[in-house]
Amino acid sequence: MTGGHRAEGEEEMLALGRSIGEMLPRRHLVYLIGDLGAGKTTLTKGIVEGLGAGRAEEVSSPTFTLIHEYGDPVRVYHIDLYRLESARELAGLGLEEILERDAVVIIEWPDRFARWLPAPDLTVRITHDHDARRVYLDPPVTFGQ
Ligand SMILES: Nc1ncnc2c1ncn2[C@@H]1O[C@H](COP(=O)(O)OP(=O)(O)OP(=O)(O)O)[C@@H](O)[C@H]1O
Ligand SMILES: [Mg+2]
Repeated sequence: MTGGHRAEGEEEMLALGRSIGEMLPRRHLVYLIGDLGAGKTTLTKGIVEGLGAGRAEEVSSPTFTLIHEYGDPVRVYHIDLYRLESARELAGLGLEEILERDAVVIIEWPDRFARWLPAPDLTVRITHDHDARRVYLDPPVTFGQ
């Protein structure tokens, strides 16, 4: 894979997230794929800001709480499937109902339950490139520079 967006450090990751958030439609399903500590939650902080749904420092990892909501009315659902252990637990999240709402739904670790989840509108893959990260968007997006 070539290209992608380079994000060196947390600030650049936040800025990239903001750019993504600014161009997202009101209703969108976004998958975030990358190793532990890749920067998925950091990118989400920026996306939430870019959508105007909250400030980066209000956004925390839903690792144990599973779902966090931002905006009033809710504009972003941030979901983390890392700790989920079964498709039965996944069914208990009420994801189908959430996906019917006019909101951006961001899911970390969708790869753990790929066969039970609907196809996303946007897949974000984050890879480590020495200290920095590369962020690949599918479908690709070129931001004005
Ligand atoms: N582009 C970047 N360059 C360097 N460090 C980064 C970058 N993006 C995020 N980080 C840092 O990496 C650490 C982990 O980030 P984050 O929690 O966002 O990862 P994650 O992918 O959500 O991890 P997890 O899989 O555990 O949920 C944080 O300390 C964050 O500041
Ligand atoms: Mg995370």
